[in-house]
Amino acid sequence: MVEDRALEPRGALGSDVALSVKDLVKTFHVGGGFLGGEKGEVSAVAGVSFDIKFGETMGLVGESGCGKSTTARCILRLIEPTSGDVLLQQTLEEGGYGTIDIIAADKKQLRDLRRRMQIVFQDPFASLNPRMTVGAPIGELLSVHTDLSREERAARTGDLLRLVGMNPSAADRYPHEFSGGQRQRIGVARALALSPDFLVLDEPVSALDVSIQAQVLNLLEELQHDLGLTYLFIAHDLAVVRHICHETAVMYLGKIVEMTTTDRLFSEPMHPYSHALLSAVPVPDPKLERQRSRILLEGDVPSPLNPPSGCRFHTRCPVGKDKEICRTEEPPLRELIPGHHVACHFPEARQVI
Ligand SMILES: Nc1ncnc2c1ncn2[C@@H]1O[C@H](COP(=O)(O)OP(=O)(O)OP(=O)(O)O)[C@@H](O)[C@H]1O
Ligand code: SF4
Ligand SMILES: [Mg+2]
Repeated sequence: MVEDRALEPRGALGSDVALSVKDLVKTFHVGGGFLGGEKGEVSAVAGVSFDIKFGETMGLVGESGCGKSTTARCILRLIEPTSGDVLLQQTLEEGGYGTIDIIAADKKQLRDLRRRMQIVFQDPFASLNPRMTVGAPIGELLSVHTDLSREERAARTGDLLRLVGMNPSAADRYPHEFSGGQRQRIGVARALALSPDFLVLDEPVSALDVSIQAQVLNLLEELQHDLGLTYLFIAHDLAVVRHICHETAVMYLGKIVEMTTTDRLFSEPMHPYSHALLSAVPVPDPKLERQRSRILLEGDVPSPLNPPSGCRFHTRCPVGKDKEICRTEEPPLRELIPGHHVACHFPEARQVI
């Protein structure tokens, strides 16, 4: 439980907003220049803002290197953002809401916050010792953050494994004995050990076969429903966010270019980059699939070390590549239709079949 002194009631957030990110910026200073001096600045996250509602899932989608994980790591204060606000709201025991400013939180407050916010990675065991049993890191978390006895920790570990559809005996086995899907279930169990209410899921199913992906996504949905969890779900593939995310934000080179409900994004995308991403998502009807034409983007994603002027997408945009305004003026993210935000000088609702 976060102490009262960590709470900073602002009343600025709507009562349904669990997490609010405002103008988040992260610039990395990279070396390797002349005589080992500073080479430049990587504009990894360039002013990202979004809200996530209690018990809902926000999707963050975009190509590799567009700043998804950096956004998530700043939100959790695993790295320090260059600027911006991240506010987490919680219901207070005395009633009403309190807002915690994550970026301003001190060490003690952060320790409390870490219990409430957890992250699940693509391979949850990549950073762990392969000679440790599956139950060991869960037990370790419980021993650091709770005063449960050894027996109670073992019982809690068993309960957590059961919660994610695993046999509690898995706790005494080793990560290599499990399939990718099972390892991801165990990763989710570990993330849930301290009963958080906000989870970042950073490409949790990207390494799994499609059929296994569906099982893990179903599990995440069930857990959200049963435990009232709020998720930030990161993926590079739009097909994955379709069924799990209530809203989706599309990122390109450190910026959100379009954000709306996932249903709207799929039925009436308005940004040319979203059109291109959606044209690559397969549809189940084979007849329709044969009629589709894929929008191929020219070239690679430019380097965030030296992002393009004006609209960052103009070097690859089929609509704006010859337009002066796209090269010179950055389009702001505007709410064109209630709940539908687009950053483009020439937005156009287009069905992408
Ligand atoms: N510690 C760092 N120092 C310098 N640059 C970094 C650092 N971490 C990330 N970057 C750069 O910031 C940009 C955004 O990286 P990030 O990992 O957030 O992208 P991503 O969208 O999560 O990509 P992926 O889909 O590959 O995981 C990239 O250009 C990356 O090279
Ligand atoms: S502002 Fe111009 S370059 Fe950018 S997405 Fe819109 S049309 Fe394309
Ligand atoms: Mg990433």
